Amino acid sequence: MKLYVLNGPNLNMLGIREPDIYGRQTLLDLENYVRQVCEREDIQVEIFQSNHEGVLVDIIQSALGNADGIVINPAAYTHTSVAILDALKAVALPAVEVHLSDINQREEFRRISYPAMACMAQVKGLGFAGYEKAILMLKEHIGQKK
Ligand code: DQA
Repeated sequence: MKLYVLNGPNLNMLGIREPDIYGRQTLLDLENYVRQVCEREDIQVEIFQSNHEGVLVDIIQSALGNADGIVINPAAYTHTSVAILDALKAVALPAVEVHLSDINQREEFRRISYPAMACMAQVKGLGFAGYEKAILMLKEHIGQKK
């Protein structure tokens, strides 16, 4: 089983950006956490981060034939990107959307998610543990189909 884990814009600033919301741990810490979860679960993983919508679309498209599922934190593109929604629909791979913060408890504009419309679940407000939850959900879902 192989997963793609994608992080969107400004997540490369983890540890620096709004630490009261996102904590003091860095993107490297998050990537190490994801790798350690995947190793424990015997899952292959490729991890990406981009600040660019089109690059995220390219990466989602490249998952076709290369991955069994996608964990995506589209960050601010969550609330704006029909392109990312369409890319997820196009590849039609099982996907779970993750947010470090609870987007329902923040500004009104963060409540809408376009990519979530193509995801089997949305995990929010659990910090790094949300990525573990998403990985385990996909493992169970993909395992049932194989
Ligand atoms: C985020 C929530 C988004 O609203 C925000 O734009 C982010 C991070 C989260 O992980 O909590 O950049 O996706």
